[in-house]
Amino acid sequence: MKQKIQEINQEINSFSPSSVEEIEIFRIKMLGKKGLITSLFSDFRDVLAEEKKEFGQVINTLKNKVVEIIDSSKLNFKDKNIRSNSIDLSLQHEPFFMGSRHPISLIKNELYSIFQKLGFSLSEGPEIEDDWHVFSALNFPKEHPARDMQDTFFIEKNPDILLRTHTSSVQVRSMENDKLPIRIICPGRVFRNEAISARAHCIFHQIEGLYIDKGVSFADLKQTLLFFSRELFGSDTNIRLRPSFFPFTEPSAEMDITCKLCGGKGCSVCKHTGWLEVLGCGMVDPKVLELNNIDNKIYSGYAFGIGLERLAMLKYQVKDLRLYFENDIRFLNNFKNYL
Ligand code: DAH
Repeated sequence: MKQKIQEINQEINSFSPSSVEEIEIFRIKMLGKKGLITSLFSDFRDVLAEEKKEFGQVINTLKNKVVEIIDSSKLNFKDKNIRSNSIDLSLQHEPFFMGSRHPISLIKNELYSIFQKLGFSLSEGPEIEDDWHVFSALNFPKEHPARDMQDTFFIEKNPDILLRTHTSSVQVRSMENDKLPIRIICPGRVFRNEAISARAHCIFHQIEGLYIDKGVSFADLKQTLLFFSRELFGSDTNIRLRPSFFPFTEPSAEMDITCKLCGGKGCSVCKHTGWLEVLGCGMVDPKVLELNNIDNKIYSGYAFGIGLERLAMLKYQVKDLRLYFENDIRFLNNFKNYL
């Protein structure tokens, strides 16, 4: 009998079912009517009285062991079934990190929607341009300092080809190709040969605006810019236009807005003037219309050029221009709450 117990014990120890059916077969083999453990209980009758206690304990332990193994194996299969057949709704989802829009994109999108309300549509041009579209057609005299090697990146083998220094070049392309009246905004990257610092970079972004129609006046320009400034910076914003000079506009002006930090009282950001410079603008010089085959006796227009980095600096109070180009995630994460 001792040997029989040993053999059963071994079989129990090596039991490793690969299906629920195998567990049932094992249960019948051990605990069924003619099962091995059941038969041990029948054999127990023939055990000598003085050995009964010891054998009784051994057989009971063996039976409990089998019951335990059967139960735990069943549980194991049930668990696997649940995992493969259904969805566990109590599981935590994987963390999903949302990115943020770049501040330059944020400002650009905001300007799109403001000018869209006024009927402007989007127009784009190439970053690699020629002298005509960047300078000549915009009435830059041949000896104008903006053409200087200091400012402009020329293509070495052909000085007629260059990286555009402003998006005003898209004005020229539009006057060439589009039907009048023209009412466009032109966003894009521009390039200037400047040392990189907190306030200057060799690559930056502009949005150019151009409106050409019959009877366009300076009052139209002023009202458009006031509307734009109040939409972007708030309805308490005021603007002022200071006389300036650009070869392609006459008269020309620079526009300031009331300083957002001090409300116009004067602080270190606005250098105690209460005003912040935002853009350049003016009436399209009749000479430019003529150069681009538009009859300047019938048509007039206004134009403006906005630096996006500067605008974003004012709006989001960014102190160093270089932050826009470094892709530092700590900087970009500040814009998570903007859409
Ligand atoms: N193109 C000028 C610049 O890059 C900005 C500018 C000024 C554009 C006046 C205009 C304008 O259209 O009217 O500095």
